[in-house]
Amino acid sequence: MPLFSPTLSPMNHECSEPLPAKNIILVGFMGSGKSTIGRELGQLLSYPLIDTDSKIEENEKLSVADIFSLKGEDYFRESETLTVQQLISDGLTHHIIATGGGLPVRPENRPLLRELGYVVWLDANTDTILERTSRNSNRPLLQTENPRATIEKMLAQRNAIYQEVAHLHLQTTGLNIAETAHGILESARYFFGHS
Ligand code: S3P
Repeated sequence: MPLFSPTLSPMNHECSEPLPAKNIILVGFMGSGKSTIGRELGQLLSYPLIDTDSKIEENEKLSVADIFSLKGEDYFRESETLTVQQLISDGLTHHIIATGGGLPVRPENRPLLRELGYVVWLDANTDTILERTSRNSNRPLLQTENPRATIEKMLAQRNAIYQEVAHLHLQTTGLNIAETAHGILESARYFFGHS
């Protein structure tokens, strides 16, 4: 797996050249910056951003929190798989896709994500995740007595999964949004140019 290095001078990157057809898929834990980086990448490339959580919310006409409480987590996980399958059968190209943090956990979803395009794992440390996710209460899995312990436990279970699914692993703590997005673009162009 190639590692992004900030020494690649991403700020000098020329963004006018389009990427080949495939999509860029962002995976990673809640609060790792998928939506923020997704928006930035979308602007840089003029690609629409699809957020799998938002797509499920639109279909269900319920918030993620309400889907969890009214229909259960299994129902939500099935909706995630169906959403990714739908994107593939639509033949989706030229999009940025921000995924829910638990989407790669189902083993069958991982090859589907890689089929959709270049998969980037946005990684952040526990303090950063805690700080970002404590700003609102819309994440049912973190509504626990000790969110820090919950995050640490879930990260311990999930990091190997993100590692397995991703073409690129990017540690974002300390990087700014523009640096992160330019680094991803540079790596994606290299990947698509050699695959
Ligand atoms: C979840 C992450 C959330 C959302 C749901 C479950 C998870 O998405 O899909 O609350 O299992 O990590 P974000 O990663 O966009 O917060």
